Amino acid sequence: MAFDYLFRNVTVIDGGGGAAYRADVAVSGERIAEIAPRITTAADCEIDGAGKVLAPGFIDVHTHDDTNVIRMPAYLPKVSQGVTTVIVGNCGISAATADISGEVPDPLNLLGEAQHFVYPTVSAYAHAVEAARPAVNVATLIGHTTLRNNHMDSLLRSATEDEIAAMRRQLRAALQEGALGLSTGLAYASAFAATTEEVMALAEELAAQQGIYTTHLRSEFEPILDALDEAFRIGRHGQVPVVVSHHKCAGAKNWGRTVETLAFFDKAREQQDISCDCYPYSASSSTLDLKQITDEFDIVITWSEAHPEEAGKTLQQIADGWGMSMIEAGKRLMPAGAIYYNMDEQDVRRVLSYPASMVGSDGLPNDPMPHPRLWGAFPRVLGHYCRDEQLFPLTVAIHKMTGMSAARYRLAQRGRVKKDYYADLVLFDPATVRDVASFTDPKQPAQGIERVMVNGVMSYTGDGQITGRAGRFLRRQS
Ligand code: ZN
Ligand code: CU
Repeated sequence: MAFDYLFRNVTVIDGGGGAAYRADVAVSGERIAEIAPRITTAADCEIDGAGKVLAPGFIDVHTHDDTNVIRMPAYLPKVSQGVTTVIVGNCGISAATADISGEVPDPLNLLGEAQHFVYPTVSAYAHAVEAARPAVNVATLIGHTTLRNNHMDSLLRSATEDEIAAMRRQLRAALQEGALGLSTGLAYASAFAATTEEVMALAEELAAQQGIYTTHLRSEFEPILDALDEAFRIGRHGQVPVVVSHHKCAGAKNWGRTVETLAFFDKAREQQDISCDCYPYSASSSTLDLKQITDEFDIVITWSEAHPEEAGKTLQQIADGWGMSMIEAGKRLMPAGAIYYNMDEQDVRRVLSYPASMVGSDGLPNDPMPHPRLWGAFPRVLGHYCRDEQLFPLTVAIHKMTGMSAARYRLAQRGRVKKDYYADLVLFDPATVRDVASFTDPKQPAQGIERVMVNGVMSYTGDGQITGRAGRFLRRQS
């Protein structure tokens, strides 16, 4: 019987971190059917790889694509990078299980408007994903801030015993329905008042169902070691793996300190399971936070509800134009979004090269002028950092985007080029792959990504068009 697809003459980088090898790879239905030095069986469609790299489709472990994969299922920003799976629900905010009445609190507003939050359970969210049939697979974490918002009348205090009990019940049900774990966003005002004990109580729900704990730390600024210590204690208390989200040392006074934070990771890793995700840029992006306003580095406004016309300018320019301080200007712009040039390049490199770091874009798909990581994170690691800067070998880069991620997040039979695994695959040219999206022109597909296959369906052929949509909702492997 003929195969559906045959990738001939490819350099397989299988996602496990091992050496690359030359092979032919055949796909039947949704699975990888055969891998051999030379396959002679015919296929309905043959692709001559000409020695280019065939890797597992990339897993974007850190996204805020919760509602966008349903609202715009072609999802070109990710598929055009070679991404075949996105993990949503990061930084304490998930659309799954959200019950929004009235205004959408910051930073849940990163995910959409009130009418987009219509998934009271993980099952409801899963059904919506399956019905929309996005081009990428989707798995979800459950956001702590989402749970707080469901069960508390104010986010500016810690939860009571009864509220914690209600959050626990909802988290338990969500995990039973396939959520991957719990995320927090403790730096945001909407979760900052939560005590460590509140999060620990929720983390107690995770171990029984082999969930994971991911956290946007309480601080990425000077108190970062205390914030890491809190995250690690929560992991030990719940006896669960911890993923530190978008690990960075933010703020000029904090630059260079990944030497300390990663040493702290190493020490903790002797006794518990800890990793992190990161994106390959020295600027961050989120909602505008008045506490982060400073003249030590540029802050660019990406959107403003009160003054949309100011988007694209620096906060300094806006403040000068209005003849007021940056803080006053910031207050006038709210609610708003921003890009902060708040990292040191050496820190970015250290975290990217750290053996336990995975790649996650943290892209913000609803921003009119999004941070370029939304379209460029994965090809930037492959082109800029791996090939041009030789930060690490290609096998390591791919491992950080695929095999390591699938294993940590318990995504079954994904993240490797292996017989019988799902045919989530990307074919790219290692000599030309590069990110094109820039801060001034951020919505641009990458170069060098030639084929992207999701569940055996050819979904992208490198020309900026989506050719198939075969993504599914992925549940945690039991
Ligand atoms: Zn975050
Ligand atoms: Cu995030």
